[in-house]
Formats: sequence, C-alpha cells, structure tokens
Amino acid sequence: MISHIALPVLLAAGTAVASSSSSSSSSSYAPYYVDCPEGIQLVRPPLSTSLNETRWVHGRKGEIVDALGRYLRRLKLEGLDAAEYMDRVREDVDFNVPVIAWANSGGGFRSAMTGVGGLLALDERTAGAKEARTGGLFQMLTYIAGLSGGSWPVASPTFHDYAPIREMVSDWHVEIDRFEATTYSEYAAPVEGYFESIYEKWEAGFNISVTDFLGRGFAYEYIPGVNRTWSSIPELPGFKSFAGPMPILSTSSINSSSPVEDGVYVASWDAPWYEWNPFEFGSWEKGFIPTRYVGTVPNENNTAEQCVANLDQTSFVMGTAASAWNFWYLSEVSNGTLGQFTKRDMESAALDALVEDVDAIFSELWNYTVAEISNPSIPNPFGSQENLTLADGSEAGQAIPLLPLIQPARKVDLILAWDDSCELEPYTWSNGVNLRESYLQARKHGLPFPEVPPASEMLARNYTSKPVLFGCDVNLTTTRDETSPIVAYFANAPYSWYSNYSWSVTNMSNAMLDGVMQNSFNLLTQGNGSLSDSWTDCLGCAAIDRSLSRMGIARPQACQQCFAEHCWDGTLTAGVADSYVLDPSLALEPAMGYTQWLDEHSDFAAEYED
Ligand SMILES: *[C@@H]1O[C@H](CO)[C@@H](O)[C@H](O)[C@H]1NC(C)=O
Ligand SMILES: *[C@@H]1O[C@H](CO)[C@@H](O)[C@H](O)[C@H]1NC(C)=O
Ligand SMILES: *[C@@H]1O[C@H](CO)[C@@H](O)[C@H](O)[C@H]1NC(C)=O
Ligand SMILES: *[C@@H]1O[C@H](CO)[C@@H](O)[C@H](O)[C@H]1NC(C)=O
Ligand SMILES: *[C@@H]1O[C@H](CO)[C@@H](O)[C@H](O)[C@H]1NC(C)=O
Ligand SMILES: *[C@@H]1O[C@H](CO)[C@@H](O)[C@H](O)[C@H]1NC(C)=O
Ligand SMILES: *[C@@H]1O[C@H](CO)[C@@H](O)[C@H](O)[C@H]1NC(C)=O
Ligand SMILES: *[C@@H]1O[C@H](CO)[C@@H](O)[C@H](O)[C@H]1NC(C)=O
Ligand SMILES: *[C@@H]1O[C@H](CO)[C@@H](O)[C@H](O)[C@H]1NC(C)=O
Ligand SMILES: *[C@@H]1O[C@H](CO)[C@@H](O)[C@H](O)[C@H]1NC(C)=O
Ligand SMILES: *[C@@H]1O[C@H](CO)[C@@H](O)[C@H](O)[C@H]1NC(C)=O
Ligand SMILES: *[C@@H]1O[C@H](CO)[C@@H](O)[C@H](O)[C@H]1NC(C)=O
Repeated sequence: MISHIALPVLLAAGTAVASSSSSSSSSSYAPYYVDCPEGIQLVRPPLSTSLNETRWVHGRKGEIVDALGRYLRRLKLEGLDAAEYMDRVREDVDFNVPVIAWANSGGGFRSAMTGVGGLLALDERTAGAKEARTGGLFQMLTYIAGLSGGSWPVASPTFHDYAPIREMVSDWHVEIDRFEATTYSEYAAPVEGYFESIYEKWEAGFNISVTDFLGRGFAYEYIPGVNRTWSSIPELPGFKSFAGPMPILSTSSINSSSPVEDGVYVASWDAPWYEWNPFEFGSWEKGFIPTRYVGTVPNENNTAEQCVANLDQTSFVMGTAASAWNFWYLSEVSNGTLGQFTKRDMESAALDALVEDVDAIFSELWNYTVAEISNPSIPNPFGSQENLTLADGSEAGQAIPLLPLIQPARKVDLILAWDDSCELEPYTWSNGVNLRESYLQARKHGLPFPEVPPASEMLARNYTSKPVLFGCDVNLTTTRDETSPIVAYFANAPYSWYSNYSWSVTNMSNAMLDGVMQNSFNLLTQGNGSLSDSWTDCLGCAAIDRSLSRMGIARPQACQQCFAEHCWDGTLTAGVADSYVLDPSLALEPAMGYTQWLDEHSDFAAEYED
C-alpha cells in the first residue's frame, strides 16, 4: 500500500524538527513539559464524576430541557400530558431531565460510517428527521461514547462545534484515503508527514507506536485542524455553551501479565478499561488524572514539579481507542486464525499490506520490533512500575463502549447502542454477542444494565435485523430497579443498501457514504415508519421512561402498549441452530437480492471485497 517512504528525507526532517522540539507550540504533535499548577493534586480516586463534569452536565441539561419539550410536542404520546410533564421537569431539571447517551461500536471504517448515519437520523436539523420522529434525540444526548472505529464519529461533532451532522460529514472528505495521500492539504498529508510527527514525539522522549501513525490518518479525516488536544474540548465554543453531547472514548489495556500470542500481548476480557473524557483520563477502578496532564507521573505527594502536556493529542487519543495493530498483525501472520475479535475475522488483504509496510518502516527507522510498536504506552500515573499500555476495546470482548455509560455516577437513563462489530460470519452482520458480553460483565461487577439474551436468542427474534429495547421492565435488569438504563439496540442491517462492505475500506465515494447513511437512517426510523408505526414513538417512551418513574408519573398507555411489542420480555425460545446463517435482503426492497443489487451498484464492488 505505501509504495515508498523517502527515508533519508524523513530522517533529515526529523533532525531539523529536533532543534525546535523544545518549543511548546500548541500546534505541534510532540508532548512537552510545563510547570504543574501550584498545589495541584494530580490523581483522584474514582468515587464520582469530576466536579467539572458535574458542572458541565448541569449546563447541558439546561439545553436538553428545551430540546425535550420540542421533541415531545412532535411525538404526542397518547396518555402523556406533555405540557404537564415538562412543567414538572423544569421544577428540578438536574433530577428530572432524562440522561441519554449514544454508543458507537467498533468495526473500523464501517462502524464509523454506518454509525454516523444513525446520528444523522437523530439530528433534528437533518432534512426529514423530525418528520420521521427520531430527529431531536441528538439534541437530547448528554454523552456520546466511542471505541475503535466508533471513536471517530463520536470525537468529530465536538471539534466541529456541533454543526449539523450532514455538514460535519461533508467536511470529512471521505473520498481521500488518509494512508495513500501524496500531497499536503488541510485534509490530508503523505505518510512521510505522519512519520515526521512521530519522529518529533520520539525525540521528545516518549513511547511511539503504530497508534501514532494510524491516529494521524484518523485526525486528518475527522478532526479539523488535526493537532487538537482532547483537553482543549472544554474551551471549544460549542462544548462551552453545552450545544451537544460530551464525547468519551473507551479503551482496554494490556500489561506484562496479559496473554501472549505469537510474541505480542493481547487484551484479556478482565483487563482494566480506561476512558478519555474532556476533563480527565483514567479508569473507574484506578482513578483519574486531568487529561491535560496525561503522561505525568505524580510523586509521593500526588503532585509533580513538571507536568507533561500535549500527550493528549486527539489524533493519539482516537488512536489509542482503535489500537488493534496487535490483532491486525496476528491476523496477517496467522492467515486469520489468531487475532480475532469476538469471532470477527480480522483478515484483510489490504490491511496485510499496510501492516507489513508500516512495521518495516518502524524497523528501518528505529529498529523496533512489532511487539514494541504494536500498542501505545504512556507513563503510568496510577502507581504501577509498568507503563500503561492501551488496546482496542474490541479485543476485550465488548465492542460497544458501554462501560463509561453504566457507571452509577453518570446516572444514564437510556443508551442508544449502535452495533456494527461485523462478527457474524459469513456475511459480517451482527449476532448481538458484544451486547450480551457487556451484560455478563456488568452483572459480574455489580453495574447497572439490562438483561440481554444469548446471541442465538437474539438471532431467533431478529433482534439484530431491527431495533429492540432491553430493560423496560426493571425486573429484567441487574439492579432490579430504575437505576439500570434502558438500552435501545441497533445492529447494522440492510434496509435500503447492503451495508456489509469491508470494515477495512479506508475511503469511499460520497455517493456510497450517502447510501450507507441513508440505510442507517432507515433502520433507526424503520423506513420512516413504513415498517413499524409504533417504533419511533416507543423510542420516545424509552427516552422518558426512567424520568417518569423518578417523578412518580405512571407509564402512559401508548408506552405500555409499544413496550409490549418492542421490549424483550425475558423469555427464551429454542434459539437458532448452530448452522444458522443470517442472510437478510433489503428490508425496504425485499425482492432486491444481493447479487442483483451489486450488479446495479457495480461502482462499489471493490468495497465489498475482503
Ligand atoms: C501539526 O503538527 C505537525 C507536527 O508537529 C506539524 O508539522 C504540522 O504543521 C501541524 N499541523 C497543523 C495544521 O498545525
Ligand atoms: C516507559 O516508557 C518510557 C518511554 O517510552 C521508557 O523510557 C521506559 O523505559 C518505560 N518503562 C518501562 C518500565 O517499561
Ligand atoms: C494486568 O492485566 C491483567 C490481565 O488482563 C489484569 O488482570 C490486571 O489487573 C492488570 N494489571 C494492571 C496493574 O493493570
Ligand atoms: C476544572 O475547572 C476548573 C475551573 O474552571 C479549572 O481550573 C480546571 O483546570 C478544570 N480541570 C480540568 C481537569 O479540566
Ligand atoms: C512531600 O511532602 C513532604 C511534606 O510536605 C515533603 O517533605 C516532601 O519533600 C514532599 N515530597 C516530594 C517528592 O515533593
Ligand atoms: C488461509 O485461509 C484461507 C481460508 O480462511 C484458506 O483458503 C487459505 O488456503 C489459507 N492460506 C494459507 C497459506 O494457509
Ligand atoms: C536491532 O535490534 C536487534 C534486537 O531486536 C539487535 O539484535 C540488532 O543488533 C539491532 N540492530 C541495530 C542496527 O541496532
Ligand atoms: C513502549 O512501552 C512499552 C511498555 O513500557 C514497551 O514494552 C515498548 O518496548 C515501548 N516501545 C518503544 C518503541 O519504546
Ligand atoms: C424473523 O425474520 C424472518 C425473515 O424476515 C421471519 O421469517 C421470521 O418470522 C422473523 N421471526 C420473528 C420471531 O419475528
Ligand atoms: C418485580 O418483581 C417483584 C417481585 O417478583 C414484583 O413484586 C414487582 O411487581 C415486579 N415489578 C415490576 C415492575 O414488574
Ligand atoms: C480511494 O483512494 C485511492 C488512493 O488514493 C484512490 O485511487 C481511489 O480513487 C479512492 N476511492 C474513491 C472511491 O474515491
Ligand atoms: C452482504 O450481505 C448479503 C446478505 O446477507 C450477502 O448476500 C452478501 O454476500 C454479503 N456481502 C459480503 C461482502 O459479505
């Protein structure tokens, strides 16, 4: 894929950069040192959300309350006196406003594009979204979480100051392959440029890895300005005025006790998870440090003279959430038998070439082995001798970033979970196993979550072909009360477009993107209501259900009815046989088989290979 890298030129550039690398320019990639603020306590125990987050959520709810009013006026749920409910909500906004979150699964460039199509359906500014009755839910989100490929559409809105999703997406310039560009522009750089930035970071004495490389590519697509720190989010006008949800990226980790396959560490299902929120980086097991100072190791007094700054480049942050290089590598060397996410085959001829090329460059430039550069490491602020090494959460069996959203401190009422983790062979649809795994892990760790049936039951009930709700009945949750969220589960499925193209497609035409996003729009809205006249109202019911319950208001008639139709009732059938193959046709055009469809869309045939 990368035809040639001019190594001598690159090394010369690296040397030139080195002379200026001590400067603390805020628009460079390399980390640098600053004086720590006097008296700052760097690490805090994970007992609650930060004061800054609590304050921000308070501000955000003030905006959500208006969006909620507009949304409910459009929905007109039978049996709900919306005006009275809104009056009551306004009496105690902090307590009564529903806390709603969007979670975008991993699944490479595929989950990024199908996922943002979901956001398009939720954005009241998208043409047709209000009429389809899903528009407005984006305006009601408090949190938006991502992992792996799902981290990109989740990081992007904040850095676009919450422009309409449609506008944001046109700024991505999806036709450009960020690993093949030959000239510098606002939107792309040749990979030599990525290695120049990495060289600067290396010269500054920080651990470098393939994550830095991939992250540069991701940032050129999703983050205007490219060199933006994650900790700069609180200063952005949109975030500051509470205009949209708070982004949180989620990662798993590896360490020297992790399992080793073919010489590289892989994340295990019990590995500690970490999150990047705009204020803090850390974990709900170990503690949090200000995002701005990530890289700083506190002394015995939990302070430091010098703090590391700029290690939280968004490009790197997104890279850490998507650092599956160890798996890509394993998949390449084992012909796809190692390095599989929950059954998802990571084999990809296109990626094999990239993996080989990039590994070779790291080896030529620095003599690094694959094991040394396959995962990103940062100095560990949480009292361990080992550096903190991060890994793609999909490796740890939970490809949907739910963990940050089910922390009791965040009090989330409804999670809209987008799953496009591509694990179901042979056609790479979903079987729900990642959601099931999150339920099992939540139960094990005493976290609030709805009960979720095994994959075989999900398939038997078509829960990965059309949206479904979990946890409407509080008795079907881990807590047996309304502190568990409802989860609205959406798995990528074909409605108007066969959206099972390869997860490793790094660029596509805008025509294809439009088809893919429209497909997600149709999935969320059930074909503008043509496939179900109760689904979108039911989503509205799910949005306010926990809030109604907190306020002691009975569930409206319309909601009782639609929950009976759209919520899992906790019962199990015989499931599907092991040999079951999910091979759906277009929900909105059932007569259009895949072969015929691909014939008619032959411009895109390459995207469906491997
Ligand atoms: C980003 O940082 C790199 C490396 O520090 C630098 O070469 C580049 O000019 C910067 N790009 C922008 C848009 O500021
Ligand atoms: C941690 O990372 C730094 C920077 O890459 C490196 O110098 C140091 O040796 C690492 N420490 C351990 C214990 O691996
Ligand atoms: C190291 O990884 C193991 C295996 O995943 C995990 O059980 C352990 O908690 C980790 N240790 C640290 C300090 O993160
Ligand atoms: C939290 O907010 C205070 C006051 O605005 C600010 O000084 C501090 O830097 C913030 N902390 C973080 C981690 O953003
Ligand atoms: C920690 O605080 C104690 C008491 O103020 C002081 O004596 C000691 O030097 C401090 N340690 C460091 C590493 O600053
Ligand atoms: C790699 O695996 C595929 C099936 O997944 C098989 O057809 C092919 O023969 C294998 N190649 C080698 C070199 O083992
Ligand atoms: C490269 O690293 C290997 C060990 O990984 C070492 O044996 C070899 O001498 C190194 N080569 C150079 C040129 O430093
Ligand atoms: C990065 O840090 C990890 C953990 O300390 C270490 O194993 C690895 O060798 C380091 N890689 C480089 C390129 O320094
Ligand atoms: C699932 O979908 C298939 C194909 O559309 C249909 O035949 C079947 O009846 C559906 N099953 C349930 C439980 O709805
Ligand atoms: C939950 O179960 C308990 C005990 O079986 C029962 O009393 C209660 O009515 C149930 N709650 C709901 C909402 O069904
Ligand atoms: C994707 O990028 C490659 C390499 O730059 C280019 O040749 C191809 O035309 C692009 N594909 C689309 C659909 O734009
Ligand atoms: C996409 O899905 C359809 C329906 O399941 C299937 O016929 C087709 O082979 C799939 N394409 C790929 C590339 O997996």
